[in-house]
Amino acid sequence: MNIGKQIAEKRKNSGLTQQALAEKLNVSFQAVSKWENGFSCPDIELIPKIATVLKTTTDALFDYSAHSFTEYDVRYEKDGYFWGLQPNSLCYEIMKLKPPVKPYRVLDIGCGEGKDAVFLARNGYSVTAFDVSVVGINKAKNLADNLGANVDFFNADIRDYVPDTNYDIIFSSGVFHYIPLSSRGKIIKNLKKYTNLNGINVLNVFVKKPFIEAPPDSEDSEKKVEAWKSGELFSFYHNWLFHRNDEIIFDCNSNGFPHKHCMDILIAEKI
Ligand SMILES: C[S@@+](CC[C@H](N)C(=O)[O-])C[C@H]1O[C@@H](n2cnc3c(N)ncnc32)[C@H](O)[C@@H]1O
Repeated sequence: MNIGKQIAEKRKNSGLTQQALAEKLNVSFQAVSKWENGFSCPDIELIPKIATVLKTTTDALFDYSAHSFTEYDVRYEKDGYFWGLQPNSLCYEIMKLKPPVKPYRVLDIGCGEGKDAVFLARNGYSVTAFDVSVVGINKAKNLADNLGANVDFFNADIRDYVPDTNYDIIFSSGVFHYIPLSSRGKIIKNLKKYTNLNGINVLNVFVKKPFIEAPPDSEDSEKKVEAWKSGELFSFYHNWLFHRNDEIIFDCNSNGFPHKHCMDILIAEKI
């Protein structure tokens, strides 16, 4: 394992000089040079930030790939688009609240095969989007190319991602139930911090209700993460203006087993 080699390679792929990377990380140019030449290693606290700036994952920096093939990779490898190509209805709510009178900066977290990111980019937003699934991101890039949309897609894990710039709109659908209880506060604190004033966070998460049984097809990774409590997502945003805080129960028939889900939906504005 040579983290310096990974940093050098990914820095060059990102078109950054050693000096530019050093400035983004608040370290000296000599420090970056030493890492890349194998004379020293970055501090452990700096690793997630390096991964974010280089638009990669901490696993990739360590050249560790045991977790890189996700359950979603299997789904996304099939022909067609697993989630279809119709944009999420929340995209229309974004357009109503923040019409693209200028290229508002959007971050789509867990963008899957990219349908929503591409839709928003085609409607005039400046979109950055990532997903833990490499297969999903490759499909998303193809979708954008085929439709002539410009989206900054990259592969990353929300659990170790820290934004490196501010956004006007942070959007994530169907992803937060993968965030373990212990990381939720820290991750959401960063999303709030990196949202511009009057910017919005548009999020949803599956929540547990005592009267709804767990779906029969929940994935292994989902089972390992503590279920979100009803209202938990809203409580993280108590000091923002709520445009929407709904809890919905809906029918689902995934894998042929009729069951129900409960989901909390939040649209909150930083004021
Ligand atoms: C239910 S899909 C939703 C995809 C997309 N947001 C949509 O609505 O079409 C969940 C997505 O979250 C991604 N995901 C799961 N865990 C993740 C993580 N830790 N970091 C980033 N993405 C993750 C999966 O790869 C998958 O694409």
